[in-house]
Amino acid sequence: MTDRAQFIRQLPKAELHMHLEGSIEPQMMLSLAERNGMTLRWQTADALRSAYEFSNLQDFLNLYFEGCKVLVQQQDFYDITRAYLRRCAADNVLHAEMFIGPQSFTERGVTIRALMDGVLGAVDDARREDGVSSGLLISAHRHRTEADAFALLDSIAPWQDRVAGVGMGGPEVGNPPSKFVNFFAECKRRGFKTSIHAGEEGPAAYVREAVELLDVDRIDHGNAALSDPSLVELLRARAIPLTVCPLSNLRLKGVSSLTEHPLREMLQKGLFATVNSDDPPYFGGYVNENLIEVQRSLDLGRDDIVTLAKNSFRAAFIDEADKARYLSLIDQYVKQNAHF
Ligand code: ADE
Ligand code: ZN
Repeated sequence: MTDRAQFIRQLPKAELHMHLEGSIEPQMMLSLAERNGMTLRWQTADALRSAYEFSNLQDFLNLYFEGCKVLVQQQDFYDITRAYLRRCAADNVLHAEMFIGPQSFTERGVTIRALMDGVLGAVDDARREDGVSSGLLISAHRHRTEADAFALLDSIAPWQDRVAGVGMGGPEVGNPPSKFVNFFAECKRRGFKTSIHAGEEGPAAYVREAVELLDVDRIDHGNAALSDPSLVELLRARAIPLTVCPLSNLRLKGVSSLTEHPLREMLQKGLFATVNSDDPPYFGGYVNENLIEVQRSLDLGRDDIVTLAKNSFRAAFIDEADKARYLSLIDQYVKQNAHF
């Protein structure tokens, strides 16, 4: 391992953009299918992994939604969440905010209670057993209707105090943020933090809608914003965090090589960027691999890496005292590792 890679692996960090349904390792996918009496199209983990070749977002989403079918019982939701949070503990991810999109499951008869109790049980156990802090982000699907999103919001009301925020994912082009103005207004009225995937495959105009019409707390991805200088200025002036996912962008053909990735330009323009994994097994890496590969490809400096780690805590949906505590852990780490 290079010194720089070791510095990144041991650096305290947060992850703010990953999808629990997208975190199922191939072997676990096969075990869950077997436990639930299902037969998948693949017999081995290697065969499944070799299916992870995508030409665009929709191509990926087709496989991702197919994979969702193996999650049926409360224990399934517990197991995938606990596995991801164990990986966080191993990777020095001290705080994680995890999306799950309940509509994929409730439409097949899985109860919202089984999903929430499974995920939140793992959140509690990870904090107690591993000291990893985490928050749950409920993600609505943008290809469904706004009425569907409202129904989802009502269904999670009993867990309001255990939900860190509400987000939105799914096929972006053709489903602009403006389709969900009333929904996001209601999320805010109920006191939820909000984010939306924007500017991943869609244009800068979608990022602008997310800021101006939805007034979200974070933008997930945001890459397309760079093509609009006045939007860049808006994002910078308002310090709106972008949860950027380099390996996801590479594997979904948003960029043809990581050397072309916009992260360096985002940092140079003073944007509030963070680095995240999105759907780690599908895209070939957890947050550390994203940081290591993008650092190498863009020749980012040590200060850039420290800024990204600090940003991950500054942009988290946690209180100011916790942010200050995490930031001082980074300062301490940097002081002790001056030689890297
Ligand atoms: N759901 C999981 N990953 C996603 C992505 N990269 N874009 C939109 N929706 C998603
Ligand atoms: Zn995502």
